[in-house]
Amino acid sequence: MQKVAADPGHSQWYIERFRAMERAGQDLAGEARLVAAMAPRQARILDAGCGPGRVGGYLAGAGHQVVGVDVDPALIEAAEHDHPGPQWLVGDLAELDLPARGIAAPFDIIVSAGNVMTFLAPSTRVQVLTRLRAHLCDDGRAVIGFGAGREYEFGQFLDDAATAGFAPDLLLSTWDLRPFTEDSDFLVAILRPA
Ligand SMILES: C[S@@+](CC[C@H](N)C(=O)[O-])C[C@H]1O[C@@H](n2cnc3c(N)ncnc32)[C@H](O)[C@@H]1O
Repeated sequence: MQKVAADPGHSQWYIERFRAMERAGQDLAGEARLVAAMAPRQARILDAGCGPGRVGGYLAGAGHQVVGVDVDPALIEAAEHDHPGPQWLVGDLAELDLPARGIAAPFDIIVSAGNVMTFLAPSTRVQVLTRLRAHLCDDGRAVIGFGAGREYEFGQFLDDAATAGFAPDLLLSTWDLRPFTEDSDFLVAILRPA
C-alpha cells in the first residue's frame, strides 16, 4: 500500500494492464494450470495476494472453491468485477485469520503467484508465511513463485519458510515445471507442512 500511496494511479494501471493482456489473448493462466494439476476435485484453494483475480478466477472456473485475499481494495473490486465466483476479500496477509471472518479454513492448496512475497514489507515476511501455514491442511501444499533480483534471496525465503513451519516439497524454476538450479532466476516453491 506504500506503493499505492506514492502513486495513486498504480492500482488502476495494474488492473488495466491485465485487462489489456486478456483482450490481446495472452496466456494469463500458466500459474493456475500448475495448481489445477495439483488439486483434488473441488479443492479449497486460497489465492494469497490475489490482485485482480486472474489465478483464482481460472481455478474457480475449473470447479474449485476459491478464496482470494489482497490488501488493495481497488484490486479486489476488479477481481469481483472481472472474475465473479470466488470469495474475494480485502485483507493483509500478515494478519490473515479467515475463520475469524466466518470463512472455513484450512485450505488444500495456497497459491501465491506474481512476486507477492517481494511486495511484502520485509519485516512481515515470516509472519505472512506463518499465517499461510496456519491456513493450510496438514497434507496440503503451498505454491509460491517469485523472481530473483527483487531484494528477497531465494535462500532467505526458504529459511523464512522453514521458520514458519514449511518444508520444501519440490523446487521449480518455472510454472511449467522446469527444475530449479543454482542459476535459476525464478523460484516456484512447492512447500508442505514441516
Ligand atoms: C504483482 S501483484 C500479483 C497479483 C496476483 N497474485 C497475480 O499474480 O496476478 C502483488 C500483489 O500482492 C499484494 N500484496 C502485497 N502485500 C500484501 C499483503 N501484505 N497482504 C495482501 N496482499 C498483499 C498486492 O496488493 C498485489 O496485488
